[in-house]
Amino acid sequence: MKAEQFTVRLATAEDDPAIAALVVDGFLDKFRPIFGSRVDRALRIMEKWVALEHVSGGVTSLVTEGYSNSELAGSVGVRTAPSREDVLARGLWRALNRNLGLPRTLWATTLLSYPRYSYRASEAYVERLVVSPAFRRQGIARLLLTAAEDLARESGKESVGLHVSGNNLGALRLYEAEGYVEAGRQRSFLTGYFLDIREWLYLRKEL
Ligand SMILES: CC(C)(COP(=O)(O)OP(=O)(O)OC[C@H]1O[C@@H](n2cnc3c(N)ncnc32)[C@H](O)[C@@H]1OP(=O)(O)O)[C@@H](O)C(=O)NCCC(=O)NCCS
Repeated sequence: MKAEQFTVRLATAEDDPAIAALVVDGFLDKFRPIFGSRVDRALRIMEKWVALEHVSGGVTSLVTEGYSNSELAGSVGVRTAPSREDVLARGLWRALNRNLGLPRTLWATTLLSYPRYSYRASEAYVERLVVSPAFRRQGIARLLLTAAEDLARESGKESVGLHVSGNNLGALRLYEAEGYVEAGRQRSFLTGYFLDIREWLYLRKEL
């Protein structure tokens, strides 16, 4: 199927579990060292996380359906306003603690706090862009990114920012091809050692 045959729509609360499944699948290499032997709990935690992001405000999720409307091919989150950090942080801590226990929760929150991001009112922030392995290289990520930029423009933003790990060469190629340029770089020995991510690049596109 060609990219033009896929469409992007706003996600509803019913899409939260499918978005969570896409994210866990797409970022499993990152989640495995964070959750350790409890990686089977990643899906439950991510479902809670996505739902919390939506109730705490500021993030709109976009999805692309696959061959039927019960299947998602890809998704992206777009932050256009700050969220209720207290709701998000408390809810996430509870979900982690319930599923992982206290020591693993402390460890997970330390690693999940990378990359560090500060909200900028003039910029929309793109997060958790992911396409299901079966649907890759058909232009869906490009489609979702374009829709995220349209949403940013409609929200009066001047630019779109995002983080990408320095070793994610496929994603880097996508962002560069779409006009994103490096605006900052964070190094972390911690994620370098445990996640094999030595650098996080902050990329920006002026709208
Ligand atoms: C990165 C990701 C979102 C790309 O999704 P996708 O739908 O396959 O990407 P597209 O088909 O829209 O690709 C557009 C362009 O990006 C580049 N690109 C995408 N994936 C690539 C890869 N694995 N290797 C090299 N270039 C790649 C290519 O230039 C591609 O154009 P082309 O196919 O005409 O050569 C997908 O591989 C994914 O979900 N990965 C896991 C999660 C992730 O890393 N997300 C990014 C977080 S920052």
